[in-house]
Amino acid sequence: QTKQQLLAKWSKVENVTKIDYDLLKKLAAFALLIIIGILFRQYILKREHKKLQIAYGEVQKQKKKLKEQKKIYELIFDDAMDGILILDDGKFIDCNDSIVAMLKYETKEDIINRSPAQCSPLKQPDGKLSSEKVEEMIALAFKNRGHRFEWVHLNATGEEFWAEIVLTPVSIDKKEILHVVWRDISERKKLEFEIKELNRTLETKIETAVYALRRKDEILFKQSRLAQMGEMLSMIAHQWRQPLTAISATSSLIELKAKFNQLDNETAQQKANNISEYAQHLSRTIDDFRDFFKPNKEMKETSYDEVLSLVLGMIENSITNQNIKLHQDLNCHETFKTYPNELQQVILNLVKNAEDVLLEKEVKNGYIKLKTYEKNEKYILEVSDNGGGISDEIMVRIFDPYFSTKSDKNGTGLGLYMSKTIIEEHCDGELSVRNGSEGAVFRITLIKAEIGKNKYEE
Ligand SMILES: Nc1ncnc2c1ncn2[C@@H]1O[C@H](COP(=O)(O)OP(=O)(O)OP(=O)(O)O)[C@@H](O)[C@H]1O
Ligand SMILES: [Mg+2]
Repeated sequence: QTKQQLLAKWSKVENVTKIDYDLLKKLAAFALLIIIGILFRQYILKREHKKLQIAYGEVQKQKKKLKEQKKIYELIFDDAMDGILILDDGKFIDCNDSIVAMLKYETKEDIINRSPAQCSPLKQPDGKLSSEKVEEMIALAFKNRGHRFEWVHLNATGEEFWAEIVLTPVSIDKKEILHVVWRDISERKKLEFEIKELNRTLETKIETAVYALRRKDEILFKQSRLAQMGEMLSMIAHQWRQPLTAISATSSLIELKAKFNQLDNETAQQKANNISEYAQHLSRTIDDFRDFFKPNKEMKETSYDEVLSLVLGMIENSITNQNIKLHQDLNCHETFKTYPNELQQVILNLVKNAEDVLLEKEVKNGYIKLKTYEKNEKYILEVSDNGGGISDEIMVRIFDPYFSTKSDKNGTGLGLYMSKTIIEEHCDGELSVRNGSEGAVFRITLIKAEIGKNKYEE
């Protein structure tokens, strides 16, 4: 019966036609969800894998780049012309090949762990101890975030050399080290020393040359004055001829009158007075000449008028006696402080030169013109003549010492050189020459602002 029952039940089951679709749907949905989940995970995994792969490639690339950069930096560090060192806690912890070469050691290891003072002489050129100065320089580098200075180093063979040093603080892992650059400046320093030495010796050379020139000038001054003295003697002879003739004529007259008993008291007194006047005139000329030759280096208040009248007092006669006219056109009457004797000497030189050219060329109606005027705060005196002027080749050498065209008259060729020295160096003025319409025009220019400065007291 049980069997029967089971069979019945079985067949019943067999015949169930109604399927639970709801459950089926749920099961299918669940399975689908799981499948999608698995697929999605696969997809994510794949994507992440790809990303990882890219990232890995990137890392490799960066690694390669870093390696290359490291190589470049190492090259820069090692092959740099400048010496590079790393200074940590007062000791070198690394350096490049240039430093090894500069210090003439075998390897870097010889330098690592040394202090800067150990690569320097005991003292720097300023006398300070290298060890103390090293501390100072390092402190300055940290304080100013960098420091540049010059330093004397000592290499392995005991030779000193100059270097320019640049210290730059660099932070690494919260620690500050110093990046040190050395540049060998021995050549530059050598040149600097040579130039300094050259300057020093040049100064003494110039001093000696200037001194020699001064001495030469002094000698030339003396020579020039001696030459003038000779001329002066002939001028004195000219000046004296007339009064001497007058004196001798007067005394002959007195003698004659006395002989014939015609010399009354009045005539005797008058003639004696005449003789005494002539004698005074002679005495004055002597004084004028003597003053002229006095080595007078004192400045005096004077004027062109005064100086010219003294010069003309000495030479007017000898000039007019040679049929040379003297024209005067005097328009500057200002007084100023100068060296009257020297100024007289210059004017005398210029007038004598004019006289010489007029006589040499036998100029008819020869004249010498003296002109003074004031213009733009300058006192000007011109000496001109109608002697035909100066040719170009002579013009460029006219103020040279010993340049003279007067061979037969034995010219010293010092007149114009000395005159230029006096006017330009003693009086801070100007002596120039140009050709006028009929002859040479020499111009003395005294500048108001420069007048009165005593050259001999400087
Ligand atoms: N007024 C002038 N006209 C033409 N030439 C001149 C004149 N003044 C000077 N010279 C020329 O300049 C030269 C140099 O003159 P400087 O006075 O220096 O010497 P010097 O007259 O020849 O000799 P010293 O002065 O000893 O008699 C003269 O030889 C002459 O050739
Ligand atoms: Mg002369």
